[in-house]
Amino acid sequence: MPADGLFRLVQGDIERVLFDGTAIHKRLDEMAAQITADYPDRELTVIAILTGSLMLMLDLMRRIPLPLKLDCLSVVSYHGRAQTSGEVIFKQLAVPDLAGRDVLILDDILDTGHTLAAVHKKLERAKPRSIRVCVLLSKRKQRACDVNADYVGFEIDDEFVVGYGLDFMERYRNLPYIGVLRKELLEQSNQ
Ligand code: IMP
Ligand code: MG
Repeated sequence: MPADGLFRLVQGDIERVLFDGTAIHKRLDEMAAQITADYPDRELTVIAILTGSLMLMLDLMRRIPLPLKLDCLSVVSYHGRAQTSGEVIFKQLAVPDLAGRDVLILDDILDTGHTLAAVHKKLERAKPRSIRVCVLLSKRKQRACDVNADYVGFEIDDEFVVGYGLDFMERYRNLPYIGVLRKELLEQSNQ
């Protein structure tokens, strides 16, 4: 367990750590530098998808020294379980005013692609100048929806991960690292 693994009460639920805090922050430095270089002299509008991208949003934004606006979208697609329903529900009806703006959508993880495809489609209607997608994690798998991330922190195998904003039934978001959840816990919830 790396140095930031002092979360003893939940440590037993984690099969193994994939990325510790140091690795995440190092990767965020690189991603932020890339994003900053890609939008020279432009104002960025970051749209963070709640709740999973909260940690990413906070740590990434403060590394991007561009003029920037922030908005959040609340979306439900998992209904608290590990299996996606495929249905994406937006908690707010209004789309932010994005006409002519350069939009960067932030999400924690690209899995089936349902969520990002639905968000992309919804934001396109607001006629932004450009839309790009940034995710911390992308699972190597066949996607149900055709959606691409322009900025990816880490590619991972198709396993259920938690921590650094990512949850299982709303738990583990506060872990400072990303780890694979023990399979037995996933199986128990499906019973
Ligand atoms: P998608 O719509 O299937 O691409 O899933 C996107 C959402 O599902 C993410 O924003 C997460 O909230 C959740 N999700 C997908 N895979 C995982 C995982 O391995 N751990 C935790 N949440 C996940
Ligand atoms: Mg979630």
